[in-house]
Amino acid sequence: QFFPIILAGGKGERLWPASRSSSPKQFLQLLDGQSLLQATAARLTSIADGWDGLWVVTARAWLEDVLQHLPNLPAHHLIIEPEGRDTGPAIAYAVTEAVRQGGEDVILGFFPADHWIGDPSGFERSIRAAVQLAGERDGIVTLGIPPQYPATGYGYIEAGESLAGWEQWDGARVARFTEKPNAETAQEFVDSGRYLWNSGVFVMRAGVALRELRAHAPDIVNPLFERGPQAYAQLPKLSFDYALMEKTREALVIRAAFTWDDLGDWNALERVLGAQQDGNAVMGRHVGIDTHGAIIYSTDARDLIVTLGLEDLVIVRTGHITLISRKDRVQELKSVLAKLRESP
Ligand code: GDD
Ligand code: MG
Repeated sequence: QFFPIILAGGKGERLWPASRSSSPKQFLQLLDGQSLLQATAARLTSIADGWDGLWVVTARAWLEDVLQHLPNLPAHHLIIEPEGRDTGPAIAYAVTEAVRQGGEDVILGFFPADHWIGDPSGFERSIRAAVQLAGERDGIVTLGIPPQYPATGYGYIEAGESLAGWEQWDGARVARFTEKPNAETAQEFVDSGRYLWNSGVFVMRAGVALRELRAHAPDIVNPLFERGPQAYAQLPKLSFDYALMEKTREALVIRAAFTWDDLGDWNALERVLGAQQDGNAVMGRHVGIDTHGAIIYSTDARDLIVTLGLEDLVIVRTGHITLISRKDRVQELKSVLAKLRESP
């Protein structure tokens, strides 16, 4: 039995101001009239048993939003964290709940809610393959994507020994997992041709996840197992990638048969929308002259953005806030937000 679980508790600061602490990016309507969370759920209900197979883990603060975006989700399929402490605790909590309710043999899949996926049928085939592999072997199955540039915002997977019978999927053991390397290391990884990007999807049997967490992240999983959500305040704030994936020796990888993007920052919008006329990626109303390579986003139908003689800028207008940034500096938005919190 397979249960997909959506991770929907992140803050998404690098998509500010569209993604605000009052409405993080999984609730944004970025493309095709759906929020990222709704699009994620739609892809998964066709793989799982409709809505009855789908679970969501989120922080209490986003509960209302999740229910509003996913009215068909059965209420008892919500795993509610008292507060967000990154994906290490979120996944560990969901694993302990799954073991409690379904036993160690159920297969769990964890899915980020901030992804754009270009090819839903390729996605479905890949997930089915990952579920089959997780059923056959003791291991945490990842989906690898050939890297397109030396991204520093992703995890990198070095494939090791191949898995017999899984040649069609380039199935292999993971020799090394490196989360968010610095620019120099990322460049080396890409140049070597031996690394894949981690798509952020993890599939494994509940019992395997529990065993690996107990071995490598006991400070997260043991308090949760013993005390449930009450343990949250004392848990480290750590992503699953650092807490477990960099440490476990039981990770497997197959090639992802779909195109994919993490809508992690404004530059992603350009990759997903594709550059339109004059090389600008635009959502909302825009009129420009001699404007090239801009990313322009506004949500209010009354807004009009007018530009003259600009290159490579990001312009975002939403809810009385306007952001104007150089494209190559949008990664630094987190520092702007820190400054804003000091002096609003
Ligand atoms: N429930 C819950 N609680 N969900 C969370 C929390 C939390 O505290 N923190 C983050 N999430 C959710 C986010 O909303 C998102 O859907 C997902 O977990 C992944 O978190 P991100 O913060 O977006 O991770 P990332 O993009 O920096 O890195 C991960 O994904 C990359 C691919 O997109 C890593 O797994 C990388 O290795 C990977 O390459
Ligand atoms: Mg992400």
